[in-house]
Amino acid sequence: MYHDFKLIEGRPVSIQVKDYMKRLMIKGALQPHQKLPSTRELGVLLGVSRNTVIAAYAELADEGRVYALQGKGNYVSEDSAGSAAPSSLSWQLPWKERLSRQALLAEELDLMKRGIRAGKDTISFTSIAPDEKLFDLDHVKQAFLGRMSVEGHVLLNYGYAKGYKPLIQYLMTYMENKGVDVQGKDMLITAGFTEGFDLVLAALQQKHGAVICENPTHHTAIKNLKLHGFDIKGVTMEPDGIHLGELERALEERPYDCAYFVPSYHNPTGIVMSMEKRLALMQLMSRYEIPVIEDGFNEELRYSGAHVPPLIASAGSGNSVIYIGSFSKVLFPGLRVGWVLADRELIDYLESMKRARNIHTSTLDQSLLYQYLHNGNLHKYLKRARAEYKRKYELTLQTCKAFVPYKTLSGDGGLHLFVTFREACSVRELLEACTRQGVIFTLGHHFFTDGRGSNTLRLGFSRVADEDIVRGIRIIGDTAKQLWGLE
Ligand SMILES: Cc1ncc(COP(=O)(O)O)c(C=O)c1O
Repeated sequence: MYHDFKLIEGRPVSIQVKDYMKRLMIKGALQPHQKLPSTRELGVLLGVSRNTVIAAYAELADEGRVYALQGKGNYVSEDSAGSAAPSSLSWQLPWKERLSRQALLAEELDLMKRGIRAGKDTISFTSIAPDEKLFDLDHVKQAFLGRMSVEGHVLLNYGYAKGYKPLIQYLMTYMENKGVDVQGKDMLITAGFTEGFDLVLAALQQKHGAVICENPTHHTAIKNLKLHGFDIKGVTMEPDGIHLGELERALEERPYDCAYFVPSYHNPTGIVMSMEKRLALMQLMSRYEIPVIEDGFNEELRYSGAHVPPLIASAGSGNSVIYIGSFSKVLFPGLRVGWVLADRELIDYLESMKRARNIHTSTLDQSLLYQYLHNGNLHKYLKRARAEYKRKYELTLQTCKAFVPYKTLSGDGGLHLFVTFREACSVRELLEACTRQGVIFTLGHHFFTDGRGSNTLRLGFSRVADEDIVRGIRIIGDTAKQLWGLE
């Protein structure tokens, strides 16, 4: 006994000793009324000071786990008996048989559990997360301390289901500056885009059980749509966005409960939908009266060309677009803060759903983001991040052009490029061959709604060093040429 005590750095030692002794009592290694080692002995056994043990025993006595006998020492109290359950109470359940369809499907669709893991020296193009080296930590710390000193007590208590009011006000103005008419609209703060999307899908009536979207599209969105039981109709992408003719034919064929679009830096193709297409798309949606869920993903990461307003801006005072925003790619995904901007009546229902499910998004996270934005940091950060990502984007683009035998290459900005090879090329085979050479990427097939895309791949470049971008893409290109006899 006492040989497995390990100190954790930074945590008060007396608490660690107290917890360790408590665990021994709970496990039954120390029995009721058993005498404990003297404070001096235990100090020696655990390699800590005698005073530390005195403090630990005093805490244990306060909790009623230890009692002292005058002149004799400390003993384990009756109530501290080990709680080892009798075998009749520790029965086993076959959990897989007790799980919902949703749980089973979520596990089955979980790419994180099935994807290739990057070894230490692997060049990985799988991530489209921001490069954490760009994070301006000093401004984040300033924002946190600033907000805490203004209203720390309030922030640590329960907040509002709809979200932290100053952040909502800030984001309402932010959306107005994107050309959105916010009259009659309201906002709900969520844990990123993903929770907003999940809530909206849960709120919509499934009269037809079907959704229409771009094909390919955001993999997490496909997963969520499937978990909600939607039939997914994906519509082919063209170089300037969704294929409107195909979309219209699909709309004529059957009714849909909603549409989901990623008009800017679409994931995975990186395409920005043209202004003309946005207007024509909205006309179709209005003709068929389909609610539009707009994913405002990456709008801020435009490297060239004019600002294109979001779909919700083209809808003017109309109430049919549900815009879901997130700074996950632009700022800090770890904060998990996103927003739903939509018709006031709809937000009212979403607010109640949010309250029922998880009360509210962490006020601490929301207030930190608010203060960071309020201090004017977004603009400065974006200027730096955009310059860095643009440089990497151009390097990736040029290297692909030089070495990869693609059929088409798309991506107008953002954090990734999408590569399509000739129809017969199996990118899975390419990935296996590249993995053996220490380079990995994401199979494009995962983003397709109908099992297509086996000749496509996505290259995320945001977290790859310049020299690795060049080395990795060269390997991908050379391997593709060898495998498929292409030049
Ligand atoms: C298309 C799209 N939308 C939204 C997001 C952001 O999701 P979240 O805010 O939940 O991190 C991503 C992240 O990869 C994405 O690819």
